[in-house]
Amino acid sequence: MLDLLIRGARTRGVEAPRDIGVRAGRIVQVQPGEGAARTLDAAGRLVTPALVEPHIHLDAVLTVGQPRYNLTGSLFEGIAIWGERVKSLTVEDVKQRVRQVLRWQLANGVLFVRSHVDVCDPELTALRALVEIRQEVAGQMALQLVAFPQQGILSFPDGEALMRRAVELGADVVGAIPHFELSREYGERSVKFAMTLAAERGLRVDIHCDETDDEQSRFLEVMIAETIRLGMQGRVTASHTTAMHSYNNAYAYRLVNNLRRAELHLVTNPLDNSVLQGRFDSYPIRRGHTRVKQLLAAGVNVCIGHDSVMDPWYPLGYGDPLQAASVLAHYGQMTGYEEIKTLIDMISVNAARALGLEEYGLEPGCRADLVLFDAPSEMDAVRLVAPRLAVIRGGEIVARTEPARHMVVWDGREEPVDFLRHAQG
Ligand code: FE2
Repeated sequence: MLDLLIRGARTRGVEAPRDIGVRAGRIVQVQPGEGAARTLDAAGRLVTPALVEPHIHLDAVLTVGQPRYNLTGSLFEGIAIWGERVKSLTVEDVKQRVRQVLRWQLANGVLFVRSHVDVCDPELTALRALVEIRQEVAGQMALQLVAFPQQGILSFPDGEALMRRAVELGADVVGAIPHFELSREYGERSVKFAMTLAAERGLRVDIHCDETDDEQSRFLEVMIAETIRLGMQGRVTASHTTAMHSYNNAYAYRLVNNLRRAELHLVTNPLDNSVLQGRFDSYPIRRGHTRVKQLLAAGVNVCIGHDSVMDPWYPLGYGDPLQAASVLAHYGQMTGYEEIKTLIDMISVNAARALGLEEYGLEPGCRADLVLFDAPSEMDAVRLVAPRLAVIRGGEIVARTEPARHMVVWDGREEPVDFLRHAQG
């Protein structure tokens, strides 16, 4: 007897719909004729493992317009506005905003979140709030917190001590922002400091690296060298890496090969970086994201992050990885048939690998953390940014969406439309 049986699920790489069984919170092989306490009819719709958000700044969410709106939309005006807003940050203020966006993410099928948290604050207010939230939501969603020094480690007063305190307070991952440090030397030292701290404490690394259009920003090679020196292969993530877009091809070729050698994970953030990069260009304006297709072709693990939800840098968004994937389909020219399927991997299995999640997937024995999309294929899911009909955690439904019904009057008669291609038109 199963706890849950999902009938007729379309899954990655399998054309024919299949049944997925759940017992004691785990995926199990369905035996012929086996009964279930509860049945969910997927009716040929797409089912994937739970979505994974590998890069968001939860401490800044929902602050758009506080104390003022970003009129230019630029990174630098955003930093100035955040500098004003951060003065009124309290633990309760952070917690209230984060709770709201976590609910949005859950409704979108996200059960695992890695959040960067600004630690350039002697009080570590945001981190204290997020550590409490991580505990508060542990029964629903898994949170990883990155000690993220927004204003640098070497360039901010007592930056190194703050990073150590953040780790002691409970940060799971060590961050850095080398391209923002005052000098090249500080940038290199900040990477070495962060990675050594992580290695000493057995933590993972996730560094905002080369998030600039400056082709001279080359800290990713320092991350690669340190990863190999410290034996941290598979435990290190580089986020943004937009400068790679502007590197010469000879340099990029060497870099991409070394990224694979060091087993780095990369996070691209199409929503924020599509609007923040290329701001110093006259026409033509560079897209300014990382070399997603080249990295994937070389066998580097690349995943998609959301980065911001309604903050001074990005006023839009509702915490949906599928929307970010849809933007990358356009902005990264990933509309090839297989590429669209890869986009779904980039918000699920690839992101899970970057976070080091275990027992994740659709194989028997994995945790039954699943999403049912209101779409028959990956292509339709991306095209429609399809609603998540059901989000399942450990075999329990933890979020549901009732899709909108659309009606048109055609030939004087009201009839429904569903935006799917049918045999008869
Ligand atoms: Fe970021």
